[in-house]
Amino acid sequence: MSDPLPRSAFPEDFLFGAATSSYQIEGHGFGGAGPTHWDSFAATPGNVVRQEDGRVACDHYHRFPGDLGLAAGMGLDAYRFSTSWARILPEGRGTPNPEGLDFYDRLIDCMLENGLKPAVTLYHWELPSALADLGGWRNRDIAAWFGDFAQLVARRYGDRLWSAAPVNEPWCVSWLSHFEGAQAPGLRDIRATARAMHHVLLAHGTAINAMRAEGMGNLGAVCNFEDSIPASDAPADHLAAERQAAIYNRFFLSGLFRGAYPERVMEGLGPHLPAGWQDDFAVIRTPIDWIGANFYTCNRAQWAEGAWPNIRLVEGPLEKTAMGWEIRPESLGAMLRLVTEYCPGLPVYVTENGMAGHDVPAGGEVPDPQRIAYLRDHLAVAARAIADGIPLKGYFLWSLLDNYEWSLGYEKRFGLVHVDFDTLARTPKHSYHAVKAFLRGSDL
Ligand code: FCB
Repeated sequence: MSDPLPRSAFPEDFLFGAATSSYQIEGHGFGGAGPTHWDSFAATPGNVVRQEDGRVACDHYHRFPGDLGLAAGMGLDAYRFSTSWARILPEGRGTPNPEGLDFYDRLIDCMLENGLKPAVTLYHWELPSALADLGGWRNRDIAAWFGDFAQLVARRYGDRLWSAAPVNEPWCVSWLSHFEGAQAPGLRDIRATARAMHHVLLAHGTAINAMRAEGMGNLGAVCNFEDSIPASDAPADHLAAERQAAIYNRFFLSGLFRGAYPERVMEGLGPHLPAGWQDDFAVIRTPIDWIGANFYTCNRAQWAEGAWPNIRLVEGPLEKTAMGWEIRPESLGAMLRLVTEYCPGLPVYVTENGMAGHDVPAGGEVPDPQRIAYLRDHLAVAARAIADGIPLKGYFLWSLLDNYEWSLGYEKRFGLVHVDFDTLARTPKHSYHAVKAFLRGSDL
């Protein structure tokens, strides 16, 4: 067991928050939201465990006052949530859904009443079907559609939002969903991937400009990072790890901060990028105020014969979570150092960190000792990063509630609050109580 961690390991003004996302908790069947590519992806056999979808999810749509009360009760300072594009604009463009607009009004007001800083992400993966029909992230026009959506959000809510980021995890939006086919729209196509990777950055920059034009500040980007470790000392495995890191970690940082894409990615995707892509960096590089890092695990890369990128990810030796993800807190430190290489001095937030556990309620309680240890060890690394001079300003737990874990359905429980998906009852887990005590001055 690692050393106890005191709250005093962090500066007084360090921000603690929890993160969630719209499709994973709200209940997309409520309130007049339009159909999304996640609904059709989930309805197609073989994509999602038990074909589960987000129609009801945690019914946060109706239960948000209680949920935000739980977040505030933990002693958190901030709440990272996302707006559903299809809830606000059921067709992705055109006429807004008044119920959807009103829902986010009430949600944001409720955060403020609870003393929680509203940290919005505009897009956490539920693309309106009408835009998916037009090619979704493969279509360059998505940058303009998304810019218009960002303007609408900024006009309506901008004065009440503490921070905003356009897109959650560009790697998942593009590579995972268009190359690996593991998430909506479930494509496995290298040309679609290259275009989606570029367009997601163009949409990011367009949205930043749109929000800035409406007078908003504290705008950032949220990317996910995994430390790529060669599976062996073989030079080929080192090359595989380098490529994996270039695709996963460096591509988006490089675009955002250097106006270029890494050579190791260009080797494969270069021929598939849209014409004139180099001219888009003026928009992509639009200055931002902070960078957010989502971090869960590391990966082990092995050379695979065959086509580019020649990467096979293999199982590593460390203790794993219910996702099968290795627990390697020092990799968080490595990723924070990587980020600051690209944007020295820019404030950094850990915008997601947490784990899925086999959390079983017993006598009204939900013991989750593995999660408490996970949080302690990752927070200890975060505290060390600050001591080493990394401008880390806050940390958001993933997640407040057990929720819809995408293609893995409701089986993977990431919450600090347990949700019974039959009754929708909420039960704070032991980790919830541990974090609450930590934020009040006890050691974690
Ligand atoms: C991240 C996603 C989030 C959740 C966690 C476990 O990649 O942003 O929605 O699924 O992983």
